[in-house]
Amino acid sequence: MKRRDLLYGFGLTALGIATGRPPNLFPVRRVPTPAFEPDLDLTLTAAPGDVQLLPGARTGVWRFSGAVNKGPATALQLIPGSYLGPTIRVRKGQKVRIRFKNSLPEPSIVHWHGLDVPEAADGHPRFAVGTGAEYVYEFEVVNRAGTYWYHPHPHGKTGSQVYQGLAGMLVVADDEESALALPSGAADLIWVLQDRTFDSRNQLAYAGGMMDRMHGFLGNRMLVNGAARATVSVATRAYRIRLLNGSSSRVYKLAWDDGTPMTVIGVDGGLLERPLEKKYLTLAPSQRAEVILDLSKHAVGTTVQLRSAPFTASEVSIVEGGMGGMMGGGGGSAVPNGASLLLVTVHVSRKEASTFRLPAQLATYSPAWTEDPAAPVRRITLDFQAGQWRLGGRTFEMNDVAPDEIVAAGSTQIWELANISGMMGMQMAHPIHVHGTQFRVLSRSRDAGAATPAQSVREGLVDAGWRDTVLVLPGDTVRLQMRFSSFPGLFLYHCHILEHEDMEMMRNLRLMA
Ligand code: C2O
Ligand code: CU
Ligand code: CU
Repeated sequence: MKRRDLLYGFGLTALGIATGRPPNLFPVRRVPTPAFEPDLDLTLTAAPGDVQLLPGARTGVWRFSGAVNKGPATALQLIPGSYLGPTIRVRKGQKVRIRFKNSLPEPSIVHWHGLDVPEAADGHPRFAVGTGAEYVYEFEVVNRAGTYWYHPHPHGKTGSQVYQGLAGMLVVADDEESALALPSGAADLIWVLQDRTFDSRNQLAYAGGMMDRMHGFLGNRMLVNGAARATVSVATRAYRIRLLNGSSSRVYKLAWDDGTPMTVIGVDGGLLERPLEKKYLTLAPSQRAEVILDLSKHAVGTTVQLRSAPFTASEVSIVEGGMGGMMGGGGGSAVPNGASLLLVTVHVSRKEASTFRLPAQLATYSPAWTEDPAAPVRRITLDFQAGQWRLGGRTFEMNDVAPDEIVAAGSTQIWELANISGMMGMQMAHPIHVHGTQFRVLSRSRDAGAATPAQSVREGLVDAGWRDTVLVLPGDTVRLQMRFSSFPGLFLYHCHILEHEDMEMMRNLRLMA
C-alpha cells in the first residue's frame, strides 16, 4: 500500500499534507448551503446489509438506501429484491440536494456518473468521507433526459465497493422526451448487467490478485438487477429497456436470441436523433443504452432471451510475451470475455392492446453537438508500462494536473485516444470515461493491416449520440469532440474497468474559470 492510500481516508491529502500543495478545502460541502433551495432533498446512506441472491445462505452486501426529505416520494424507486440502490428520478431544471451518509467501515464518496455538476458535487476521491460522516451534494440537473447512474469513487476502492453492491440508477426526464410518449411506467424497464463470483457460502468473492487487477475482474455468474436468474413476465406491447453495464470489466455484445434486431434509441447521454437498428449492441463497462423491445406481434406463451453473443477474446485483451500462456484469455476467469451468456429471459404472458409507433425523429441536438474545426487536438495514448496501465503516459496522483490537462471551462478540444501496444505486447480494450461532460465520437480508425475476427465485438459498437464513455479497442484511435463542463475545478477522466481505475489509469483535468 502506498503512503497516500493510507492518508486519504483521513482527509490529510485534502489538507495538502501528502502532496505539499495548498489546502483544497473550498469545494467540500459537509453541511447544506442555506441559500440553496432544493426542489428535491434526499438522504442516501451506504451501509452493510444482506440479501437473498442464491438458495441457502443470504449474501452479505454493501448497499445504498434512500429517503425523500422534500419533494415527490416517486423520486426514489426501489428495485424489488435487489441490492442496487434506489433509482433516483429527476427532471431537468430541478434543484437537488443529496445528503450522503457513510455507514461503511471505510471511507467513501458518491459520483453521479454522466451528470454535469459543480466540482463539489462530482465525488472526486479527495472528498471521500470516513465512517459516520456526511457529505452534502447540491446541484441543478442540467443534463438532457437520459439514463445515468451513481456509484462510489474513493481512491483505490471503487472496484471493491461497487462489487459489493454500491450502485444505483439516476434517470433524468425532460420536456423534449416527454413529448415523444415513449413506453413509460411499468413499460419502462431498467436492467443492470453485472457479473459476480460467489464462494461456497454464497458470499461475494472479489479476487484482488495482480492478474485480476491487470486484466480486470470477471465474475463467473451473471446478475441482472442484482438477481441471479433474471426472468421477466411481460405483455404483448412495446417496452423501453434501459441497460447499464455495471460490471467491473466485462464487455457485453447484446442480442435477442430470436433474431429481433436491437432497436437502440439512446446511449449514455440520452436519446439518439433517430433510432438505430443493430444485430448486436456492444456495451462496455459503465456505458448505458436504451432499446425498444416491441412484443406486440409476439404470441402469448413465447419467450425471448437477451444474450451476450460470443466474440473473440483477443479483441479486448491481447497478452503476448513469456507469460502469455498463464495470462491469456482474461485473467483466468472460468467465464472469459467473449463467452456466450444468457442474461434475461422474457416471458410474453398476457395480451395487451398496443398502439405504440416509434417516432422516426427522437431528438434535436443542440449546437454543442457540432464539430468545432478550430478546436485544438490533444493525443492521449493508452498503454501498459512497468506494471501499470497509463493514460497519456501517466498515472493518477490525487491533486496532480499536467500542463496539457489544464483547459478553459466550457471550451472545446478534439481528443485522440490511441490504444497502443505496451510492455510485452500487453494491450486491452479500455472504456475511457470523462467526468462532467457528454462528448461526441467523431471517428474511429484502426491499425493498418489489423484483421477483424469472424466473431467480433466491433460489429456491435455504437458510437452515435452523446457519450461519456467510449470503448477504445486495441489498435484503435478514437477521435472525440470534447466540450468541457462550464463548471471550473478538478474533474477526472479514467478507464472504467474498475480495477484499472483503482490501479491508477486515471488523471485529473483542471477546468479554469
Ligand atoms: Cu463512473 Cu469516475 O466514474
Ligand atoms: Cu463519471
Ligand atoms: Cu483499462
